[in-house]
Amino acid sequence: MFLSSLRLYQFKNYESFGAEFCPDVNIIVGKNGAGKTNILDAIYYLALTKSYFHSTDLPSIQHEKNLFTIKGIFSSPLTPKGGTDTIEDTKGLNFNIFLGIEKNQKKILRFDEVPYTKINEHIGKIPVVMIAPADDTWLHAGSEARRKFFDGILAQIDNLYLGYLLRYNHFLTQRNSLLKQCEGRTNRIDLTLLEQYDEELLYLCDKIFEKRTAFLEIFIPIFLEYYDFIAGNSTENTESPALSYVSQVAQEDFKQQFKNSLTVDIFKQRTSFGIHKDDFEGLLNGYSVRKFGSQGQQKSFLLALKIAQFFVIQQQKGFSPILLLDDIFDKLDDFRMQKLLEILQNPIIGQTFITDARPERSQHLFKNFIKKYQFLEL
Ligand SMILES: Nc1ncnc2c1ncn2[C@@H]1O[C@H](COP(=O)(O)OP(=O)(O)O)[C@@H](O)[C@H]1O
Ligand SMILES: [Mg+2]
Repeated sequence: MFLSSLRLYQFKNYESFGAEFCPDVNIIVGKNGAGKTNILDAIYYLALTKSYFHSTDLPSIQHEKNLFTIKGIFSSPLTPKGGTDTIEDTKGLNFNIFLGIEKNQKKILRFDEVPYTKINEHIGKIPVVMIAPADDTWLHAGSEARRKFFDGILAQIDNLYLGYLLRYNHFLTQRNSLLKQCEGRTNRIDLTLLEQYDEELLYLCDKIFEKRTAFLEIFIPIFLEYYDFIAGNSTENTESPALSYVSQVAQEDFKQQFKNSLTVDIFKQRTSFGIHKDDFEGLLNGYSVRKFGSQGQQKSFLLALKIAQFFVIQQQKGFSPILLLDDIFDKLDDFRMQKLLEILQNPIIGQTFITDARPERSQHLFKNFIKKYQFLEL
């Protein structure tokens, strides 16, 4: 699957913009502030209907304007499962995606001019993986960033999971507002309503826990393989990496604990037990990479997570996600950069977009690259 053409209207710094892309590597170069990252974000928008960088849509509407539109023409492989993703396979399988976002209006998303009734049905049709400098929130922020990382992968490969997650978040919000309504007084809670919410939430906790556990069984071996590859034989690779899933749901008496926490929940006015408390911990020799890892170890860890994200999605969908690499060469040292370039030459990797503020560097790096590549200068 690849994006052959992109049109933007009033999207961030672009009043109006159009470009054509090749199915292999597209290197977007231009000065700082030229709009390189914005192009990657527009592609991300077409895939997931939201920005990679902002949690709401408003910052993506051009200043002083009320709406933006993004249109992309895609080509998809003829044989999704195990087929090769080459241009020859894609004849006649073009489709276009239109996204329109206007202040105070519902999002409009169309697949070949047909509007979606449920936007979530689009998620996973155009799988995408972004690797951007801001990604180290995985290491530093709270557990939410780590859950989002895995949810983001699962949502793209498993529509049922996405459905469970959205339902869970809905009922969690409902339960929390019920808790707020009784203002700390146990005798004021609507127990019938609470019972209904709890039943849904506990059911969904089980489902989501099962899916997360099963997913990690596929994800972890791929992650370990790429951690080893990226860290190479360097000193940082003398300790064995691991990824652990920490969930209250795993505890045998989880349901009882959930029920028992009602008094505390009423007091705190929020739900203390559930999969919204799950966390994922990266470990080296049993110690947290976040807390004890060297900068090099952390960099390898993050890059391996992202590369594993790519290959897991590729494996599960049977074709390649679009790979978006934002300013990656600024962040990586020579060793990891070479490793990444080696990975990028893997024929399994399909269309790739790379931004770079220093065209001469990219030109140099790609001189001996075996795949086709094209420069777009802004
Ligand atoms: N909503 C917006 N309206 C107008 N300009 C915007 C908006 N959001 C971002 N920009 C502009 O986009 C530019 C940054 O683009 P970006 O893609 O991050 O640049 P690059 O990656 O090439 O350094 C900045 O000049 C910024 O002011
Ligand atoms: Mg940028």
